[in-house]
Amino acid sequence: MKLSFFTRIFLIYVAVGMQIITATVRWNWSTINVNDIVLPKLCGVAMSEYQNSGATHCPDSNWAVWEKKGTNNGHCTIHGDQKSGIACDFWNNYKSDVQLVKELGCNAFRLSVEWSKIEPREGEFNQAAIDHYRDLCDELIKNGITPMITLHHFTHPQWFEAKGAFEKEKNISYFVRFCARMFEALQDKVQLWCTINEPGPYVFQGYLHAAFPPGKLLNFNLAVQVLKNMLIAHVHVYKKLKSLPGGQKAQIGLVHQYLPFEAHSWNPIEMVVGRVMSYIFNDVIMHFLKTGELFPLTPYLRATIPGAQDCNDFIGLNFYSRVVFESNILGSLWNMKFDEETFKPSCFQGEVMTDMQYPVCPEAFYEAIKAVAKLGKPIYITENGVPDSNDDRRPLFIKRYLYAMSRAMKEGCDVRGYFYWSLMDNFEWDEGYTKKFGLYEVDFATQKRILRPGAECYKRAICTSARVA
Ligand code: BGC
Repeated sequence: MKLSFFTRIFLIYVAVGMQIITATVRWNWSTINVNDIVLPKLCGVAMSEYQNSGATHCPDSNWAVWEKKGTNNGHCTIHGDQKSGIACDFWNNYKSDVQLVKELGCNAFRLSVEWSKIEPREGEFNQAAIDHYRDLCDELIKNGITPMITLHHFTHPQWFEAKGAFEKEKNISYFVRFCARMFEALQDKVQLWCTINEPGPYVFQGYLHAAFPPGKLLNFNLAVQVLKNMLIAHVHVYKKLKSLPGGQKAQIGLVHQYLPFEAHSWNPIEMVVGRVMSYIFNDVIMHFLKTGELFPLTPYLRATIPGAQDCNDFIGLNFYSRVVFESNILGSLWNMKFDEETFKPSCFQGEVMTDMQYPVCPEAFYEAIKAVAKLGKPIYITENGVPDSNDDRRPLFIKRYLYAMSRAMKEGCDVRGYFYWSLMDNFEWDEGYTKKFGLYEVDFATQKRILRPGAECYKRAICTSARVA
């Protein structure tokens, strides 16, 4: 194909522009003192009920049914056909696990309430399960630990799934009813509330990538609809909880996973894919949080949820890393072979990969905090952690990410809390038990928890670092 001189200049211009937009600035770590940090008032750990109690304790959830299904699109629903079982048996061990949180020196704990335990069948509420969460919150408070509750962390009852879950706008009222019920039950003990954990990844995994229930592959229509309905649900829940007794003093927010994508080289394909992915994963939600408007660049999808920009008392920021895209598209075209080499997550020279498909990248964490801070709301880092089965990258990760957060805070970002993901190894969704995020290692045969040596530096940091008032 012959391109005119001006077309070439234009393409170079676009490529340079894209590279500038997506490239993360790198720091010279040899000149940085990672111990000179300030931390937010609340420092703790995060987890979700299903990941720590498993299908055995949550048999009426969509995930229990999904696990039972075994395969989807010819693939195991869970890596290696594993099952979550009782996971860490957190449902029974919560009292001793709260002691683990305390021993770390933490003063905050983010956990989710499992809707399928509270309302296993439509309209049938289980008072014993509600009391369980009241006890759990009491246990935390008694030990000087502030609870933060997530109302939807990827799972919900199977009856809700069977109705189409968030695919249908009319189903939102079921979720609002459940949230109101939990709020009424816990508002005297809990002030920090996350409505929905990561609508973006929920939609991506369930409707585009087929890795989470309902296991749809590249269903863009439903993906858009579900994302929209989840954001509408967030707004409805926010307004409902604010109207209830205790609502005015509660702090309520949405949790967004900020996931930047970057090109590995000047290959325009990597740049375009990186930019498009960043747009889908971040820009859409960030724009929504700022304006209440969804898909502003796509006329037939554009939608506005009136007043949505005022429905967050804080922004929950989940951050792990940024994805570096490396493409061998020319080789694939040449060989007409498209496999994991066509596009593969990688990292830059000098970076260290984690056990997931992303590197340790504290600079991107700093940039994410700065970007979210522009929304002008307090920020809680609701998840941040590293999958590291050898426990040889955890200290590096913890020290540098805490430093990155501190740097953003010293420059004025209003970070109110930090929650490490996760207290202990647990069920990592479609990855099963292969990924080890825990500060505590769990022996799943004996349920023994052992503090990982690499986690000591988190303990040290929270016990010795300066805190903002
Ligand atoms: C999710 C967690 C998950 C973690 C690590 C987050 O996106 O909220 O449930 O375990 O990532 O992959």
